[in-house]
Amino acid sequence: MTDFPHTTRLVDRFGRIVNYLRVSITDRCDFRCVYCMAEDMVFLPRGQILSLEEIQFICRAFVELGVGKIRITGGEPLVRKGALGLLQQIGQLPGLQELVMTSNGSKLARMADDLKAAGVKRVNISLDTLDPVKFKVLTRTGDLENVLKGINAARDAGFERIKINAVILKNRNHQEVADLVQFAVDRGLDISFIEEMPLGTVDSHNRADAYYPSQLIKQDLQQRFDLVAVPDKTGGPSDYFQVSGSDSRVGFISPHSANFCASCNRVRLTAEGRLLLCLGNEHSVDLKAVVRQYPGDIEALKQAIITAMRIKPEKHEFNIHEQPVILRHMSATGG
Ligand code: 5AD
Ligand code: SF4
Repeated sequence: MTDFPHTTRLVDRFGRIVNYLRVSITDRCDFRCVYCMAEDMVFLPRGQILSLEEIQFICRAFVELGVGKIRITGGEPLVRKGALGLLQQIGQLPGLQELVMTSNGSKLARMADDLKAAGVKRVNISLDTLDPVKFKVLTRTGDLENVLKGINAARDAGFERIKINAVILKNRNHQEVADLVQFAVDRGLDISFIEEMPLGTVDSHNRADAYYPSQLIKQDLQQRFDLVAVPDKTGGPSDYFQVSGSDSRVGFISPHSANFCASCNRVRLTAEGRLLLCLGNEHSVDLKAVVRQYPGDIEALKQAIITAMRIKPEKHEFNIHEQPVILRHMSATGG
């Protein structure tokens, strides 16, 4: 990647600099995780989602506006045809410092080497349980063995700082948090625990009942591990701790119990081409309309992005005790 620093142009009303873009390249997924999707999801029709060229074009505009880090997400990004070629093109954008990806791991056994070659720097892989039966219940369609192979393939491909993402639900997998950390420690991986966020309606559980706060996870872990606070944040919403005597770090993403909005540096592009200014609000700008109305006009697109910063909300409005106000699922949002 060429080092060609662009001037940062993306600053919101609260003085926050936006230098990180998360891009959902598909709302589809080969899993149906209970906290992410309803059992019978209706996915977007082809014509409604951005083409690969449009995604690349929008990424280019963001990088020219000073965005240095792009994360490719989904759904499961690797189920989209042409994902690898797209990653390669985005990886070559002059000025981009870091291209990273979030995946459910189902296709990594086959694709990890190609992803590395395409220029992907790091991968986050979702893994909520080490029990094959629970894994099937939580993902509805996933196969644990296959994901474990994917994690190994990512290690063998030479990815550094691979991170496991685990969404913890009370009485479903909260009993496993220490085993998950041990799994990470044994393999030199990082791990983040995520409190479930009320995105879209789910039909398998009551979110308020399933709430398991980060504080309790931390207490459970301290029975078995010595956790030392790490002050350097990666610019993300996680609070990090080093597991003493290991290479691994444990992160806690706590949308309910800790508000991380003041340091928010990110925006999200949905598969449909909506620019979401905040995960927990509906404020958005339709960038697909802009690229389709002014094809190839990068200045028009950049202007729309700069203007969008004015409506970035100050903070999210999650409340697990109420009906979700955010109707889109994580799969449509870009996790
Ligand atoms: N709340 C919290 N995390 C979620 N994810 C998907 N849906 C939700 C939700 N409702 C997580 C996935 C994955 C990441 C991209 O987002 O587990 O790790
Ligand atoms: Fe797919 Fe990830 Fe949603 Fe699970 S959480 S259904 S793996 S997009």
